[in-house]
Formats: sequence, C-alpha cells, structure tokens
Amino acid sequence: MKKILILNGPNLNLLGRREPTVYGHRSFDDFLDELRQHMEGRAELTYFQSNSEGALIDRLHEAGFGEVDGIVFNAGAYTHTSIALADAIRGIETPVVEVHISNVHQREEFRHHSMLAAACKGVICGFGLDSYRLAIEAMI
Ligand code: DQA
Repeated sequence: MKKILILNGPNLNLLGRREPTVYGHRSFDDFLDELRQHMEGRAELTYFQSNSEGALIDRLHEAGFGEVDGIVFNAGAYTHTSIALADAIRGIETPVVEVHISNVHQREEFRHHSMLAAACKGVICGFGLDSYRLAIEAMI
C-alpha cells in the first residue's frame, strides 16, 4: 500500500465556496472522504493545506525523505510564481505530481506557465477534483 501526501496551497481551503463556476461546489473535505474510500487498500492518503509558502516548503521537507511514497501537489497561485517551492521539490527525494482542478491553459496567460512543472514527475490539470485521483493513480 502506497503512502501519498495530498498538499494543497493557497485559497484551496475555500473549495466549494470559492469561484464555484471554476472550481465546483464541493468542499475538499467531502471529496477527500470519497477519495479515501475509493483508494482503500491501494493508497493511504494524508492531507495538508496551507495558505503560506513557508509552511508548504516545511511540509515538503518533512514528507520528502521517506515519510510518504509520493506527493500530489496543488500549489494554487504559487505554481506560477514560486522559485522557492520549485527548489523544495528539487531538493527532496520523494516524487511530486503537480495537479490543478481547472485547465490552467484555457485561462489567463499568467496561469499558462508553471514554475514547478519542470521539477515534478508530471502534471495533471483540467479534470476538476478528479485531477487528484488521476495523479494518485499515476503515482501508484
Ligand atoms: C489552481 C489554478 C491556479 O492558477 C489558481 O491560482 C488556483 C487553483 C487549480 O487547481 O486549478 O488557486 O491551482
């Protein structure tokens, strides 16, 4: 059984309430219950969300040397700006898959570039919350 950390960045605590036409009506906690059931026997999921870049870096460092087998990371808007998160991903041993709920390539131009993608094992975006499940399947 694989241990997977799901890591969510800024504003993703507001899922279900935040821009529902883009991100949907479902809270992440509700989705996570279903995802845990779906993955039963195949993956053990731990979850961490922070709005702070530093807290995300600290969690990557903690998890990235053996605590888990893989990290599924939605860095929110830090995806497009953060050299520090890219360096953290490069600095750890555990593979990271970048995910996005929305198809960032259909949106504003500033969302088309990811600072993190080149440091990640792969990228999944545009499938709504199912992007997380697909990333976990890929990781397994
Ligand atoms: C997002 C896309 C980002 O551009 C945005 O800043 C987010 C969410 C997504 O999951 O679609 O906060 O990462």
